[in-house]
Amino acid sequence: MISITTEKIIDEKRQGEAIKMKGGSEHKKLYMESYGCQMNFSDSEIVASILIAEGFSTTQDPKNADVILMNTCSIRDNAEQRVRNKLSQYQKQKRENPKLIIGILGCMAERLKKNLLEEEKLVDLVAGPDSYRDLPILIKEVESGQKAVNVLLSREETYADISPVRLGKGGVTAFISIMRGCDNMCSFCVVPFTRGRERSRDPYTIVKEAQDLFNQGYREVTLLGQNVDSYRWNINKKNEVIDESKPVVNFANLLEMVALVNPDLRVRYSTSHPKDMTDEVLETMAKYENICKYIHLPIQSGNNDVLKRMNRGYTKEWYMNRIEAVKRILPDCAISTDIITGFCGETDEEFQDTVKVMKEVKYNLSYMFYYSERPKTLAERRFDDDVPLEVKKKRLQEIINLQLEMSKEYHQTCIGKTYKVLIEGTSKKSVSDAYGRNSQYVTVIFPIENYKIGDYVNVKIDSATSTTLIGKAVK
Ligand code: SAH
Ligand code: SF4
Ligand code: F3S
Repeated sequence: MISITTEKIIDEKRQGEAIKMKGGSEHKKLYMESYGCQMNFSDSEIVASILIAEGFSTTQDPKNADVILMNTCSIRDNAEQRVRNKLSQYQKQKRENPKLIIGILGCMAERLKKNLLEEEKLVDLVAGPDSYRDLPILIKEVESGQKAVNVLLSREETYADISPVRLGKGGVTAFISIMRGCDNMCSFCVVPFTRGRERSRDPYTIVKEAQDLFNQGYREVTLLGQNVDSYRWNINKKNEVIDESKPVVNFANLLEMVALVNPDLRVRYSTSHPKDMTDEVLETMAKYENICKYIHLPIQSGNNDVLKRMNRGYTKEWYMNRIEAVKRILPDCAISTDIITGFCGETDEEFQDTVKVMKEVKYNLSYMFYYSERPKTLAERRFDDDVPLEVKKKRLQEIINLQLEMSKEYHQTCIGKTYKVLIEGTSKKSVSDAYGRNSQYVTVIFPIENYKIGDYVNVKIDSATSTTLIGKAVK
């Protein structure tokens, strides 16, 4: 679990503005906690922005809060269990302070709707991912003694005009949401139900946000979407141009627009979908040094029958063709993936196909999970969740071990090379060490000397672990 609290990061000037707007009368304290994917963390920054404009200030300590908002994830059952445990804890606090408002946002709010409020009586307020503009009203409703719910999903909402309050530490890297929702129907996945239909955000607002971040000293942006390759603006699903006076913008065009903001602004993105990833995107990445040479391309399984049951829309052969394109167009690009073990009906042989693909691709990094059945998904309706938990876990452990070995091996090949590293902070172990990442997204540690957070430094690597490269700055 990663939780963000907002207090430290919102600068006083902004808070001052917000308070002035409300004549200093309202000064309720907000505590926020975020779970799940980067999009959720990015949404929390939008929520903070909306509520600060209403006169809220933020606190890092839930005990000081008037309003506690949990931005939640439903992707796997254990993600939801963690939130439930935390909610019961906050319920205890509410018994001592009945005025405390507890709200749930994000994917669990959307999935469970009124249930959390009426049946489980865990919260006062439920707001789905497309209803955050409504939060000030919802909070007022709760204050007047009602329970408040808005879980309407929208076909248009992209929060394009809201300037997020940056909650991440460091002031060097930031997320920018470029689209919302997902129109794929991977059979295991709850996201289409919790996030609604896919919609792309106006590219000019994205470029402006990147420019503003650069002006504030940020040096890296990550463009976020569940399937960035299907980003499209000014063109409808039937491929008709909407406004002839404006250009059509696809993901490759958008990447280029953001890369052109400044050569010193690094650009990353997540997540690509193997069925949609084009050579045009890879060629754009090759053209600009500041677009990082790192692609996250989730495979989920290396077996065609499993991929079919997962409804992923590609075969192993198609996926390998995309990997070959990456290796051809971007020879120094790192590749990571997501894998699920023990999906419905997965046999030992089918699982071994996943192991085989991992070895073929030689992923630099993998995010691995065992299958967790989610209510209402295609898989829940069509297939039995029939792989025993111990088998799911055993397979997961096998690929975790394999990935560890492969990551270690890859990092060994980095020794002796020099990488351009963006300093993101000082190392947890020692303030005299800087930590940052190279273009390939690998963490690099080196003595900070006179360099500052936000600087680019060429670092020569002299040792490595399975997660980190260690080196020294070279002039
Ligand atoms: N949009 C991204 C994935 C978002 S969810 C994509 O299409 O790749 C992140 C990862 O969680 C998925 O890639 C998948 O590996 C995992 N995941 C999703 N649903 C899951 C489930 N029901 N059980 C286990 N893992 C799941
Ligand atoms: Fe889920 Fe598939 Fe959409 Fe990713 S692409 S969010 S896995 S439905
Ligand atoms: Fe979780 Fe929702 Fe993201 S289910 S992974 S927070 S889109």
